[in-house]
Amino acid sequence: MRNVLVFLFFALATCQIPCTVVSSSVDPNCFLVWRFNMYIINDIPEDIVVHVNSKDDDLGNRTLPLGGSRDWSFCAPGWTLFRGEFWWGSKYISFNVFDGYVDDNCDTKSLVHRTRHCYWLIRPDGFYMSSKNNTWPSESWHFEKPWP
Ligand SMILES: *[C@@H]1O[C@H](CO)[C@@H](O)[C@H](O)[C@H]1NC(C)=O
Ligand SMILES: *[C@@H]1O[C@H](CO)[C@@H](O)[C@H](O)[C@H]1NC(C)=O
Repeated sequence: MRNVLVFLFFALATCQIPCTVVSSSVDPNCFLVWRFNMYIINDIPEDIVVHVNSKDDDLGNRTLPLGGSRDWSFCAPGWTLFRGEFWWGSKYISFNVFDGYVDDNCDTKSLVHRTRHCYWLIRPDGFYMSSKNNTWPSESWHFEKPWP
């Protein structure tokens, strides 16, 4: 039994078991790992294009108008990687929209409430993170990086 748990831990840790992306309309119990609800919200009054992918899942291109959001959920340990690409007119940037650092900016790591929330807000000056979707402007939004 102990060996099985150790195997499971390393399998999950290295994502040998795919870090399953689940639909936001269902609420599965993520076995031994957290469920993350990710939101990328466009707060620029122009369309931007967002592309999100992990090693296992490609969520494709999505055009976000002002106020539009790219939402997805997954069951994963905190060091899973999701990469984001963003196009705004002639501007382009790519960075990890979910990784161990982002995980620290998501809401509670409670063992009871196993669903965690992470929000990105895209503003004309750059990208902000929060564990809540507070109305802009708000202290809860931390500036993370500018557009290039
Ligand atoms: C995604 O959108 C960008 C920007 O519009 C475009 O350059 C890229 O080719 C698109 N990728 C796919 C797979 O459609
Ligand atoms: C975030 O908050 C705004 C303003 O209250 C709301 O219009 C929008 O639907 C929310 N988006 C998400 C993904 O929660």
